[in-house]
Amino acid sequence: MHCGLLCLALCVCLCVIGVSARATHGFEISYYQGHVTQDTFDCLNDEGMKFGLFQAQRFNGKYNPYLKDDIARSKASGIKTNDVYIMPDTTQDPRDQIAATIETMKSEGVLDDNMIWIDVENSDYWFPSYDDNIQFMKDMVEEGRKQWSGCSWLFGQDCIGMLTSAAEWDAITNSTEDAFFADMELW
Ligand SMILES: *[C@@H]1O[C@H](CO)[C@@H](O)[C@H](O)[C@H]1NC(C)=O
Repeated sequence: MHCGLLCLALCVCLCVIGVSARATHGFEISYYQGHVTQDTFDCLNDEGMKFGLFQAQRFNGKYNPYLKDDIARSKASGIKTNDVYIMPDTTQDPRDQIAATIETMKSEGVLDDNMIWIDVENSDYWFPSYDDNIQFMKDMVEEGRKQWSGCSWLFGQDCIGMLTSAAEWDAITNSTEDAFFADMELW
């Protein structure tokens, strides 16, 4: 297997995430990586990567046109967990944008057992008011749940998760402990 430079670059940004005491290796691919070659995914798989996280919606609300092909190549390499994340665009309606992005993913056959993660970071892109941010997220999560519940055969499984950190959550929501978010999966 010939592992090119791009693969090395991607391997560098791999993250290690502890999921209930077990560490799994994965990688993240955004719109900016464009088309990632099959060789690269094969290399990531050979390196022991177990999951990929792919950007479905960019911060300007636009769909990532490389998503479908990149996920298909990731699956073809043997990587089984291929989740997607959404960068919220706070200049657009929260419900409309997540519904549109999920609709496109469904029509492209991208969604099967994937989780959809909402990327909550960089307060510059959010409203000045914590309450407005919290309401925006609630609307987006609620609509997302309506549109996508197929991530698991478990009845009532929440397929929308939060991708954030304590610092980002604080900057954007003033560390709200609102019960609405309490049971959500956290990346
Ligand atoms: C942020 O949260 C703290 C602690 O709950 C509270 O005292 C403060 O008033 C909040 N700030 C705003 C602007 O809501």
